Amino acid sequence: IPVQPFDLVIFGATGDLARRKILPGLYRRMLAGQMPTEARIIGAARSKLTAKAFREMVEEALETFIGKERLDAGTVKTFLAALHYVAVDAGGEGGWKELGAILGQDPRPVRGFYLSVGPSLFGPIAARLHHSGIATETSRIVVEKPLGHDLGSAQALNAQLAESFDESQIYRIDHYLGKETVQNLMAVRFANALFEPLWNARFIDHVQITVAENIGVGGRGGYYDKSGAMRDMVQNHLMQLLCLTAMEPPAQFEADRVRDEKLKVIRSLEPVTPEDTVRGQYRAGNGEPSYAEHAENPDSTTESYVALKVNIANWRWQGTPFYLRTGKRLRARLSEIAVVFKEPPHSIFPKLPAHQTNALIIRLQPDEGITLRMTIKEPGPGGMRLADVPLDMSFAEALGPSAESMPDAYERLIMDVMRGDQTLFMRGDEVEAAWEWTDRILAEWSESRDKPKPYDAGGSGPENALELMHRDGRRWREIEA
Ligand code: BG6
Repeated sequence: IPVQPFDLVIFGATGDLARRKILPGLYRRMLAGQMPTEARIIGAARSKLTAKAFREMVEEALETFIGKERLDAGTVKTFLAALHYVAVDAGGEGGWKELGAILGQDPRPVRGFYLSVGPSLFGPIAARLHHSGIATETSRIVVEKPLGHDLGSAQALNAQLAESFDESQIYRIDHYLGKETVQNLMAVRFANALFEPLWNARFIDHVQITVAENIGVGGRGGYYDKSGAMRDMVQNHLMQLLCLTAMEPPAQFEADRVRDEKLKVIRSLEPVTPEDTVRGQYRAGNGEPSYAEHAENPDSTTESYVALKVNIANWRWQGTPFYLRTGKRLRARLSEIAVVFKEPPHSIFPKLPAHQTNALIIRLQPDEGITLRMTIKEPGPGGMRLADVPLDMSFAEALGPSAESMPDAYERLIMDVMRGDQTLFMRGDEVEAAWEWTDRILAEWSESRDKPKPYDAGGSGPENALELMHRDGRRWREIEA
């Protein structure tokens, strides 16, 4: 769907996310010919900058985050010309009139507000936009996590936004939904006749969802120590992956039909018992400080690693657990969903010593692609010797240049906002349901006296996480890039 000319106001335009992701993303869309030339991007932040100084800052950001040698001079010039700037005091009076004046001059058909600011400003900015008439009934507002800290705060945030904007105008970003392979998960499931008949507890033994990072919390210790892996990753990103893997086929590929199905999955999740949870915290290693040092809190009991066994109480998944794990400072950066099938109902061949059953592995990063693990006959005359082999597809190889120019998650999501397509954004009730489920686990952790288990930097997580699988006669896949 073509994008109509738009006015996009970015609150927090001088901040890290804007410089690192949002503005470079918009530049790349312009380069790809997707951004209407009449579009305007209006930076808004507290600093008193001139439009010229803002353009210089953005040019520098493009050079840093895209690379000077990779920029196209002509597009940079057009892009910078589309930029405007207003100093706005989000919580006070200053700047709102000026913002209204810019938007009032020759307004573009679509108007969006990207709140790249702390969540405490979401409500106040939304209210100002509404009461000043700067936001119209068709304007769109974009917010991103943390969308609450627990159910209560998430409800409060949703209520604040709802005072000024209709749900159909609110775009809640989970950047995992903008990742190419996450959408491919829906294509694989619902555009092929091959998998869906097998996609249930009858044929699937279990599902493993891994989001492993090799980086630590670095300079984000302050935020992270109040959040931990459960709030930072599981409540949102892993939950979304779980939903898309487990949901029923939506009747249409349409925002509310897809979101209804995801919500049904969250509502079907059984409460997780403490024995089915593992939390860990990384030790010092490989020349890097420990988690507690990073967080500047020697007594921190915040988890930098979580593993969970999750059961979904519905007909499709009864008896097929989903194992989730995520952590920082692990062996490699790897995100994947592995759907592990059961043995064939009757085997006529001798079993391989370390035989592995069929598995469909959907790789989100680093090398996006899909692998189907199959058992075949080893070549040669030595009788029926079997081997487990991967049938591998890397999107970059399969799709060539079109895979190389794949938009980054933010680029795609911002363009979807401008198109008015909410399919890849979370609805308010989804976020609340996910918190309700997460809160129960967090409450049990805080009641128990157990501390997170230490694990080695550069390893694959705490021992107990291995045990979570072993006791069920299963094993995690290796974390290797
Ligand atoms: C963010 C988390 O939402 O996702 C970070 O706050 C995490 O802690 C990041 O590092 C991971 O995103 P990606 O796209 O690098 O996998």
